[in-house]
Amino acid sequence: DSNKFQAIISHCKEYGFIFPSSEIYDGLSAVYDYGQNGSELKKNVRDYWWKWMTQLQDNIVGIDAAIFMHPTTWKASGHVDNFSDPMIDNKDSKKRYRVDHLIEGFAETLPEAEGAELIASMEKLLAAEDFAGLKQLIESRKIKCAISGTVNWTDVRQFNLMFSTEFGSVSGEEGDNMVYLRPETAQGIFVNFLNVQKSGRMKIPFGIAQIGKAFRNEIVARQFIFRMREFEQMEMQFFIRPGTQKEWYEFWKTERMKWHLSLGIPESRYRFHDHVKLAHYADAACDIEYDFPIGFKEVEGIHSRTDFDLKNHQEFSRKKMQYFDPEVGPDGKPYGNYIPYVIETSIGLDRTVMMLLSEAYEEQDLGTPDKPDSRVVLRFPAKLAPVKLGILPLTKKDGLPEIAQELMAECRSVFKCFYEEKDTIGKRYRRMDAIGTPFCITIDHQTKEDGTVTIRYRDTMEQERIPLKAVKDLVDKAIQ
Ligand code: GAP
Repeated sequence: DSNKFQAIISHCKEYGFIFPSSEIYDGLSAVYDYGQNGSELKKNVRDYWWKWMTQLQDNIVGIDAAIFMHPTTWKASGHVDNFSDPMIDNKDSKKRYRVDHLIEGFAETLPEAEGAELIASMEKLLAAEDFAGLKQLIESRKIKCAISGTVNWTDVRQFNLMFSTEFGSVSGEEGDNMVYLRPETAQGIFVNFLNVQKSGRMKIPFGIAQIGKAFRNEIVARQFIFRMREFEQMEMQFFIRPGTQKEWYEFWKTERMKWHLSLGIPESRYRFHDHVKLAHYADAACDIEYDFPIGFKEVEGIHSRTDFDLKNHQEFSRKKMQYFDPEVGPDGKPYGNYIPYVIETSIGLDRTVMMLLSEAYEEQDLGTPDKPDSRVVLRFPAKLAPVKLGILPLTKKDGLPEIAQELMAECRSVFKCFYEEKDTIGKRYRRMDAIGTPFCITIDHQTKEDGTVTIRYRDTMEQERIPLKAVKDLVDKAIQ
């Protein structure tokens, strides 16, 4: 629901997770900055994906390619010609809308069956690239924009989503200096396919993973970090023998869902959505959707990209993109030279963060009839929480801060800790709940006598006494 969504956005700002970019200048549309807690959370998610992909899987290595790429890359990949979305403008307000967002937004206001029917009609028209039909659909349903009731629409037309900028000169020729900011990280993997295969002596099937920024000139509805103009992708291209794409596509669907479930999110919060309209490079594709407060929406795409990209790079660069497969096939001969097929898994880091925030956020009523009380708690999995341990001396005197500082010195090299001695202990616990810190340790006068401390658990709010000496290992174990 939109109240929860708004509450999460405010919470993110208040507690240092996410700020509008350049806020002192009233922000920049669909661009956001991560604050002290948001950047830790995001880094933990990034590291978790990287480890899962490049360390726990067989035969996948990681790279870090540049954001700028030779402009021909984007001709070969099809982005110059095809990476566009149908847009429509409101002639009166001069506002531009992505046709699919406009219709989807309207569908959400309809009764469920009617909304689904509208979406289905839209998907058919999009697949057929029937722009006149889309305009008719919009007009027949009297889709209103925020500004005026009856809307004077332009025709539907294509709008390329790539940002461009200028280099000194790309080829040495006058005028040829336009470069794009990459709209996906995948192409940095494709152009390096042979570099990695040869230098790493990789044998098919193998994968190349990458995490990095991507840029798209989205026409945006206000959706917080769900749809941004600058965002981060975590992508993996898995290179396979042609003809095996169906099996590997299924394999990666299953494998990626396992990753999602390992975030502690129940299966019922996810669903697969098969694409009707395939991207220009795919022969099968689906999304993993999560049930956000704004409805089920895509977090990750899994695409069977055939040999589309490598074949086109071979054609445009005139460099062979082939792999020699020495393995013997059913006909008794080696498979020999071929351009590999590719299964891609592509997940948005920011959307994953938004998913984790949505799943973790809870306004918990702790009141009794005569004493109202509540807290906001972020129930992140301990391994992803921005801060793992709050270290809180009960008072600022009697040597308690010194003991707390010793614990801080012991733990901080292993995991992120937060030290605080101001305010009542209750207030300090609530602040730790609000950023999702799974454990707090309180050092009190008894600590000096018997070497025990109070550990307080975020989720249950329960407290128990444990030896001071046991703290580091206990937390370290819980965050694995
Ligand atoms: N290489 C394939 C590719 O880029 P995509 O479905 O366009 O496929 C993959 O994007 C993922 O990137 C999406 O599932 C989403 O999580 C994320 N993503 C795409 N556009 C985004 C945007 N404007 N803001 C935030 N995340 C975005």
